[in-house]
Amino acid sequence: MGNVVWMDGSLVPQEQAKVSVFDHAVLYGDGVFEGLRQYSGKVFRQREHLQRLFDSAKAIKLQIPYTPEQLAQAIEQTLAANKLQNSYIRLVVTRGVGTLEVGPTTCTRAGVFIITDKIQMYAPEMYATGMAIITASVVRTAPAALSPKIKSLNYLNNILAKLEAIDAGVGEAVMLNHLGYVCECTGDNIFIVRHGELLTPPEESGLLLGITRQVVLELAAKLAIPNRQANLMRTDLYTADECFLTGTGAEIIPVNAIDRRTIGDGTVGPITKQLMDAFHQCVNGR
Ligand SMILES: Cc1ncc(COP(=O)(O)O)c(C=O)c1O
Repeated sequence: MGNVVWMDGSLVPQEQAKVSVFDHAVLYGDGVFEGLRQYSGKVFRQREHLQRLFDSAKAIKLQIPYTPEQLAQAIEQTLAANKLQNSYIRLVVTRGVGTLEVGPTTCTRAGVFIITDKIQMYAPEMYATGMAIITASVVRTAPAALSPKIKSLNYLNNILAKLEAIDAGVGEAVMLNHLGYVCECTGDNIFIVRHGELLTPPEESGLLLGITRQVVLELAAKLAIPNRQANLMRTDLYTADECFLTGTGAEIIPVNAIDRRTIGDGTVGPITKQLMDAFHQCVNGR
């Protein structure tokens, strides 16, 4: 049997893992999700991911018909069935099947599915030499319109920016917020280093509070690397000594150019390297 997907309580072959065209996730992008990572058989920061999932669901008045403990068991079951030790886990909660009405009142039960698979986000050489990114022309959704803290199935804002990255032939795009400050990338948070200090945009810039971002801030504190959350302008990116992105899939990926401008000397900087080493130790040893 190929890969199996956990769907509403059962494991089904991936070819049979299908969502109804009447599910409001399909009709309106109405739902939430999480991306988690398994290292050496253990799910990394599972509690934080499940907490964010339940917070996202609560923010859109979506009742998840399982407890976090039940979802943790479902993840274990799916990983075991697929015989995975190091993998990516996608946990999705859909609003469920309803009428064509935009209001979700006819959707009586949320749908939940879990996909587990091997992952390779970026080419290994990029971790050694760095990746080029651009700043996107599309701005991040304003928090007052739809908070990026909600990890929802509405990713069009991110997809529009990612299309710009693809068109430019680079791996990621950083979005500015509605005020012109640096916010985050399409699927990653951003950090820079300047004069030995680690800087990342604050929560108020309207970003997804990345769990990898949090781990990096914790590691920086442990390693006594001066760090601060601060509003950054595009110029701050261009004049940074080092830059890297963080995400569950990407882990820590160094950036060597932004909008074709070389960052630092164009190689992976010492603080980035130090944090990458510490991160790998952390995910493997915890
Ligand atoms: C828009 C966005 N920002 C940041 C991140 C990074 O968050 P995390 O480190 O929790 O994966 C993600 C990925 O989940 C994302 O989709």
